Amino acid sequence: MGILEGKKALILGIASKKSIAWGIAQAMKREGAEIGLTYQTERFKGRVEGFAEELSATFALECDVDHDDSIGDTFSTLENKWGHFDILVHSIAYAPRELLQGGYLDNLDREGFRIAHETSAYSFAALAKSARRLINEKGSMLTLSYIGAMKAMPSYNIMGPAKASLEANVRYIANQLGPDNIRVNAISAGPIRTLAASGVKDLRRFLEYVEKTSPLRRNVTIEEVGNAASFLCSDLASGITGEITYVDCGYNITGMTEL
Ligand SMILES: NC(=O)c1ccc[n+]([C@@H]2O[C@H](COP(=O)([O-])OP(=O)(O)OC[C@H]3O[C@@H](n4cnc5c(N)ncnc54)[C@H](O)[C@@H]3O)[C@@H](O)[C@H]2O)c1
Repeated sequence: MGILEGKKALILGIASKKSIAWGIAQAMKREGAEIGLTYQTERFKGRVEGFAEELSATFALECDVDHDDSIGDTFSTLENKWGHFDILVHSIAYAPRELLQGGYLDNLDREGFRIAHETSAYSFAALAKSARRLINEKGSMLTLSYIGAMKAMPSYNIMGPAKASLEANVRYIANQLGPDNIRVNAISAGPIRTLAASGVKDLRRFLEYVEKTSPLRRNVTIEEVGNAASFLCSDLASGITGEITYVDCGYNITGMTEL
């Protein structure tokens, strides 16, 4: 029997089969969860409906997290179909591409700062606000972060402060929902070649660096992130909330790998 048997999981953020959310959806399905998916816009509809079919998902709904109406519609449809549910996975981020290259201050402006924070951090709180009344006791919420929240990295730029805000959101939401026995966590994943990550200039060099210097001397996979996500959203992790769990082949623990 899988560790998510009997649970219903809403997963936001699949754009392709390289998406971290795809790795999570596959692992959660394997562990027995019933899956519901969303896609950002009409452009992704056909593709995500195909993925939903592969997972025997209950539904695939449009949800653009930049719009409150879209979030509202998603949860009213979910309520009609499921009533209540157990797991919310937020695997969404965006910043204008021109900000993800050069020095931090070079292309930074008020609008770019706002967009990165709104889509990548506020959206998690917005979803948590709507999901709260529909999530069962012992339910959990999960989001995806990156070490750029804690340490300055080349090119990652404005996404660093946006992920720092996201991680603080995890702690604040966890603190508020803990008394209802709802847990809230993040996985800080190592670099993976996906559509979003390809927006960061010289992603290839991030991957090479981790391969050379992380304790496991390789990069992490979406399957490994999916497995960790399944554990964190299962009752096996009942004592864990408000945490940022690194799934990065150990990269974050190193100061200097070797001389
Ligand atoms: N790939 C990496 O190296 C890496 C590492 C650590 C953390 N992450 C995080 O993982 C998460 C998933 O990214 P990914 O790497 O799988 O890339 P991806 O491009 O496959 O997924 C990003 C998703 O965000 C969605 N999205 C963007 N704006 C949206 C909006 N307004 N409304 C709804 N959806 C929207 C896209 O449609 C897409 O499905 C992101 O939070 C990302 O920052 C990625």
